[in-house]
Amino acid sequence: MKSIAVFNNKGGVGKSTLTLLVADFFASTHVTIKDRPARVLVVDLDAQGSSATALVGPSAVADRQAAGRTVSGLLEKLMGRQAPSLADYLIPRQVRETGTRKIRLGKLWTLVSDGDGTMALEDRYRDRIAIALAERLKPMLEKEFDIVLFDLPANIDRRNYLAMAALGVADFILTPTEPTRMTINAMEKSFSIIRDAQGAARQAGRRVPKLVGVVLNKTDRRTRQYRLHARDIEQLAGANDSLVFRNFLPAAPTLASATDDSIGFETLRERYDSYYDHVRKVAKELAERCGYSVSARPPRS
Ligand SMILES: Nc1ncnc2c1ncn2[C@@H]1O[C@H](COP(=O)(O)OP(=O)(O)OP(=O)(O)O)[C@@H](O)[C@H]1O
Ligand SMILES: [Mg+2]
Repeated sequence: MKSIAVFNNKGGVGKSTLTLLVADFFASTHVTIKDRPARVLVVDLDAQGSSATALVGPSAVADRQAAGRTVSGLLEKLMGRQAPSLADYLIPRQVRETGTRKIRLGKLWTLVSDGDGTMALEDRYRDRIAIALAERLKPMLEKEFDIVLFDLPANIDRRNYLAMAALGVADFILTPTEPTRMTINAMEKSFSIIRDAQGAARQAGRRVPKLVGVVLNKTDRRTRQYRLHARDIEQLAGANDSLVFRNFLPAAPTLASATDDSIGFETLRERYDSYYDHVRKVAKELAERCGYSVSARPPRS
């Protein structure tokens, strides 16, 4: 299993959108892992539940939240030395097996969060959450999944033990950003939080998460703003042992509506329309950087 934390401390830069499209591509196309469809889990660590809602709909998310079947609920049980069943917490995305020849949105699973549960967990267990995540939850997920994506909230700091723990136990960290001055100004803070999480992993003797790259979102390379700021972003990424993805995502209403669960998308083409290739290229570049290969063929089974 490989895990990828999608993080930028600035709000609204596209963390949840990027999580959704990566999850879609990895779950729906042929990501080569032992020659079978990858089993993909999205752990939505933002209590707003944006990416989980986009994937499985608001009622499924609300039901799990009301029942306390959330990430924090699961960790509470694990830390209390109980043996919860992971299946009770997961929400599967329902898929139709028949019909179109186009690539259907593949099967995947989500785990949701709730604000009060997370706060209670953090008050009680503080930095022990990272140990529970690494030593109890991760081995549980390893049995069921090939790829785990953590969609992180914005505005976190050291007091957000759960989000910091997820950053520190992930194998890779992926950072969407926009080529605007305001977002660039805020990037140093994100890198500093990432360094904290990496430092904590190093100190605990765990594998240090690798910053796999910065993805430019809402980007038009013809604009003055892009030309002014592209080099700054490259340098900032480089100074943090990272790089900027060759592929980027344009600012497009289609990409904004891709997360709209009320539209009822069934295929990748329907969801991403004329931006399908942009999305495919970003997902493919990520897959390569994380060490697996992906083709645009649907999985065999
Ligand atoms: N490439 C894009 N083109 C147009 N709109 C986009 C694009 N990417 C994201 N958006 C829109 O920008 C807004 C913020 O995106 P998103 O929720 O993915 O960001 P976020 O970083 O997860 O935000 P938050 O910090 O609140 O979690 C949403 O309305 C989304 O639809
Ligand atoms: Mg979000």
